[in-house]
Amino acid sequence: MRITIFGSGYVGLVTGACLADVGHDVICVDVDVDKVARLNAGEVPIYEPGLESLIGKNQAAGRLRFTTDSAEGVDFGLLQFIAVGTPSDEDGSADLTHVLKVAETIGNNMNDYRIIVDKSTVPVGTASKVGRAVAASLEKRGRSMAFDVCSNPEFLKEGAALEDFSRGSRIVVGTDSERVKKAMMECYGPYNRQRDKMLFMGIRSAELTKYAANAMLATKISFINEVANLAERLGADVEEVRHGIGSDPRIGYSFIYPGCGYGGSCFPKDVKALAHTAEEAGHPAEMIKAVERVNSRQKGKLFEKLCQAFDGQLADKTIALWGLAFKPNTDDMREAPSRTLMEALWKAGARVQAFDPEAASECHRIYGERDDLVLADNRDEALEGAHALVICTEWKAFRTIDFDQLYKTLLEPVVIDGRNLFSPETVKAAGLSYYAIGRGDSVRPVLA
Ligand code: UDX
Repeated sequence: MRITIFGSGYVGLVTGACLADVGHDVICVDVDVDKVARLNAGEVPIYEPGLESLIGKNQAAGRLRFTTDSAEGVDFGLLQFIAVGTPSDEDGSADLTHVLKVAETIGNNMNDYRIIVDKSTVPVGTASKVGRAVAASLEKRGRSMAFDVCSNPEFLKEGAALEDFSRGSRIVVGTDSERVKKAMMECYGPYNRQRDKMLFMGIRSAELTKYAANAMLATKISFINEVANLAERLGADVEEVRHGIGSDPRIGYSFIYPGCGYGGSCFPKDVKALAHTAEEAGHPAEMIKAVERVNSRQKGKLFEKLCQAFDGQLADKTIALWGLAFKPNTDDMREAPSRTLMEALWKAGARVQAFDPEAASECHRIYGERDDLVLADNRDEALEGAHALVICTEWKAFRTIDFDQLYKTLLEPVVIDGRNLFSPETVKAAGLSYYAIGRGDSVRPVLA
């Protein structure tokens, strides 16, 4: 099957490489000349385990190509995937400029029936807008031609995207056309052998499914973080509570890990966009707004705990920070809690010595050279001359620590653990003060 994918970002590249790998012929179109040149030279601009070799393998086999020529792209595939970015506007709504630009391009260049597949995360109603944009471009050319628009949201996690693409729990397709159903079955057939994962539904339902899924997951996180904050006040341990509730299969263990807040490119943006859509639809979604508020507050927790540990005296302190990425196995720092913490520390006059196994260059790209930021080459270097250690990301490499050694290294015996990686008893046995998230003994309970 011939497939065209507009947008060689994270979603476009993963989709292109995976579909080529099961034998489809794929062309990826991007407007960024430099990016396309790099991709054609075998250089993959993002970090995702396994992606570079998958792209290389399929390029070599002649099944995957990159181009800036959109006319060639429109001409090529029956399926025209739109996988371009939908950044947040200032009011939180998703910015559809790039999506509608691609729709216009398709309308300007198509000479035969095409199926336009919305892959980007877009608000409910976007497929209709895409359809209108394609029709308007055709009309300008004085042409009339059949086409369909369907919604096919992605559920890829960074760091596990290839696995999610090939072994995901479901393939959602929003369409009302039999022709589209048939084509999408053919496209995803190789991933649909073990059991039928195709979920066909109305276009608007598919669009809403993506937002509802991410908002539900974000809700679970904000909920447990709220319970963690309560646990601190009440002298309970949220880790015990987490086990206590997760064992009920109706609740389950997944996505109820308390921490320093969710980040990344999806949850923050999608929760805001859904709140905005709800507002526009005349139904202010109170829960969704609260999920977002709880998360912003949670991202400030690590700084709050440092203030508590140092009685608010953070000026001229050096803080070792382990973990910059918003989660392990990625170099992505978008909306990462580490950023909220660093920015607050700098404001308070403290210095940061940070180590992350992958995100150092991303951090340098964001913040540049500054006197109050050292990007260390390893975790020990980040500790040199530091008054306290803060852990922001649960990289595997941070899970074992010689606490006796750490006690000797730190200028003040303070460990702030934003991911609840350790047992408080073990850390305290080494003489360190341990502040985690929602563990009863990390702060003095308010209620006796
Ligand atoms: C998410 C969704 O999982 C994915 O299905 C969707 O397509 C895109 O958004 P991703 O942003 O890659 O994927 O990250 P994910 O692994 O889901 O983690 C998101 C954030 O939640 C991270 O900051 C993580 O640390 C945090 N998190 C996750 C928690 O704080 N607690 C948890 O229990 C789980």
